[in-house]
Amino acid sequence: MLIAKLFHILGFTVWIGGMFFAHHALRPSAASILQPPQRLPLLAAAMARFFMWAWIAIALIMASGLYMMALLGRPALFVTLMFVIGVVMMLIFAHLFFAPNRRLQRAVTAQDWPAAGAAMAHIRTLVHVNLMLGLITIVIGTLGPLV
Ligand code: HEM
Repeated sequence: MLIAKLFHILGFTVWIGGMFFAHHALRPSAASILQPPQRLPLLAAAMARFFMWAWIAIALIMASGLYMMALLGRPALFVTLMFVIGVVMMLIFAHLFFAPNRRLQRAVTAQDWPAAGAAMAHIRTLVHVNLMLGLITIVIGTLGPLV
């Protein structure tokens, strides 16, 4: 159980911490300093690297979460909530990865900055939603046993 909890915590620390940095540090700094032809290739490259780690983190969170649920038996309400919100976040990420992210990477390769900017704006909204859900789920997972 402890090893599973370690992988669980490592997983959401990388995923949610990475979203926090991208949303509150990387993107606003790039927007305030760089023009689209410099900013969008930087963000596309950073997103491509981060998304690879996000897939690994998601696999860790889901595998460790399901394993712990199997050990614990009938899930408490907070575990059910974590599972449902976790699955919603993973579906949002899958959509983000296969839709606006694919558009962003293609538009940057084609140097189509308006299309890349539009795709990046869509990614920003989805990352913001997932960041909020992730922070709420950390609270649920941590304080849940108290309820
Ligand atoms: C991004 C999504 C998630 C976050 C942020 C999250 C967060 C947490 C946190 C903070 C804990 C408490 C760790 C501790 O006690 O030190 C926890 C425990 C747990 N999580 Fe998650 N979790 C997520 C997704 C999931 C998913 C998808 C599942 C099920 C598949 C799950 C199942 C569990 C279970 C079974 C525990 C152990 C509960 C216990 O000790 O009674 N979590 N999670």
